[in-house]
Order: sequence, then structure tokens, then C-alpha cells
Amino acid sequence: MSEAIKQQIRDLLKKHNAVLLAHNYMRDEVQEIADITGDSLALSIEASKTSADVIVFCGVHFMAESAAILSPDKKVLLPRPDAGCPMADMVTAEELEQLRTRHPGVPVVTYVNSSAEVKAHSDICCTSANALKVVRSLKEDELIFVPDRNLGRWIAKFVPEKKFIFWEGFCPTHERMTVEAVQHKKAEHPDALFICHPESAPEVSALADHVCSTSGMYDYCRTSPATKFIIGTEAGILYKLRLDSPDKEFILASPALFCPNMKLTSLEDVLLSLQTLSPVVTVPEDIRLKAKGALDRMLAIPRD
Ligand code: 13P
Ligand code: SF4
Repeated sequence: MSEAIKQQIRDLLKKHNAVLLAHNYMRDEVQEIADITGDSLALSIEASKTSADVIVFCGVHFMAESAAILSPDKKVLLPRPDAGCPMADMVTAEELEQLRTRHPGVPVVTYVNSSAEVKAHSDICCTSANALKVVRSLKEDELIFVPDRNLGRWIAKFVPEKKFIFWEGFCPTHERMTVEAVQHKKAEHPDALFICHPESAPEVSALADHVCSTSGMYDYCRTSPATKFIIGTEAGILYKLRLDSPDKEFILASPALFCPNMKLTSLEDVLLSLQTLSPVVTVPEDIRLKAKGALDRMLAIPRD
């Protein structure tokens, strides 16, 4: 059954000159059929340079919105329009403007997990993979960081010369991973390294052997001489970790590491989206142009 759906999806992708992008947290079967899987940074780059006519974005709303901002001439489909990100909803453009008014002249660094409108009111965007580089690229010694307090505080440790003004947003999925859960797994597997995402609470990140973005985890686990890892991020990442390193062992740090939004998109949703060429994600042109400025400034920073 699922093989038949996959074949129909492949045929429709070809027919519409479409590319299927999937975030590293998507369901296994969606990652399996994707043309490109990656972290938020890799998918933004891909969305900005693809020659496809249609982008099918298997992720959450802000990711498809970023693709629509970067590629206005393409049709961007989000198979599940109800797949949002609670962290992105924790700051509005109005709230950000109020904060800016209180700190005139202070640049705003906005995590891509945010709405197009919030990006439009920002100076530069960042992802978890490039946040440190983005912050270091600023000439100012003070900055506003929205919306993720945990990523912001994690980065701030490496740039003590800069003063951060944080927004108190957070990822509910990562914050459900408790110190107790991690310590329990560490006690069960004393020979394993603990790797976590910077969206994790500071007390959890403090227990980690390495803190990095989702794609950073693939690189780290593949190249590390270690063979056992406790993974502190959304469970979808296990699919490719195990595929990349079948001889290594990966243990999820907490059973709470499931993002309900990232798990919404099914193969049936992808198929329906390609059959109907909907739902389309668009961004009003005035907002798009301003948001694109913040994304472009981020994308201009060279990758490692
Ligand atoms: P990255 O894939 O950029 O590490 O982001 C994690 C995330 O929470 C996306 O929603
Ligand atoms: Fe948002 Fe967290 Fe889900 Fe990512 S994992 S989409 S940050 S709620």
C-alpha cells in the first residue's frame, strides 16, 4: 500500500517539476521519499536555489513560509497547513516592535522558528546551525535575540563580550526533556555520549557532551569514534542516524521528545497535496521583501 503511494508521489513530483523537502524530524516514511532532508539551514538554502517549479515542504508552517519568502516565483505547498510551531507563535511583530522601542538601535537576531511578520521586523535571521556565526557577524555589542531563550542563552556563553536581551520563548518538545530523564538514561548507559539540541533547557544542555543542530548531530555521530549515543532532540532524527551508522546505537533521551506538529504529515497528505497542488503558502509582498532581507543577510554568511 505505502509502496503504491510512494510511486504515485514520485510520478507527481516528476509531472509537476516539484521537489520534496523534508525536515529531519519528519516521519520515517516521509524522510525516505524526500529529495532532500536537512536542518532548517540546509532546507532554507535549498529553497533559495532550487530550479523546481513546486516545493512540497514537509515540515512546519514557518519553514514553508521561509521557502515562499526566498522563492516567490515557485508554488510552495505545505501538505498539513495545521502543522505549526508553538515557539514561533510565542512572539508577534507588535510585541517585537514594543521591545525594539525600549532598546533603540539594538539589532534584532531572529531564530527562523518565527513568523514571516516577525522576520520582517528583524535585522537578521539565524538557525541553530549558524546562530553563533550570525551573532559574531554583528558589529554592535548588544543584541535582541528572539524567540528562543534556550538557543539564545546557549550562544551567549560563547560571546561574553556581547550583551543579549532575550525573549522568553521556548520549544515545548525540547523543554519536556528533563534533567531526571537524561540522568536516568546516562545511568542506564554510562558508556554513551549525550548529544542535545540547543533548544533544550540550560540544565539539560549542561549535561551534554555536545550541543548542536539536527544536521550537526549526523556529522558528529558519524565521525565520532564513540558507538553509543543518547540523543536529546525530536525522535524523527533517529531515522537517518541509524541509517547513516547502522553499527552504532542511538537511544532517545526521553520518551517526551515527540513534536506533535512535526509528526502530522503523512504520505497520504503529501499525495493529496500533489494531486490538488494545495494548500499553497504565500506571504504578502511587503512583508516578504522585508523578511527576505533578514533571511538573505543570514544566507550571506558563509557555511563551514
Ligand atoms: P534544526 O533542524 O535547524 O536544528 O531545528 C530544529 C527545530 O526545532 C526545527 O523546528
Ligand atoms: Fe517548534 Fe519545537 Fe516542534 Fe521544532 S520541535 S517545530 S521548535 S515545537
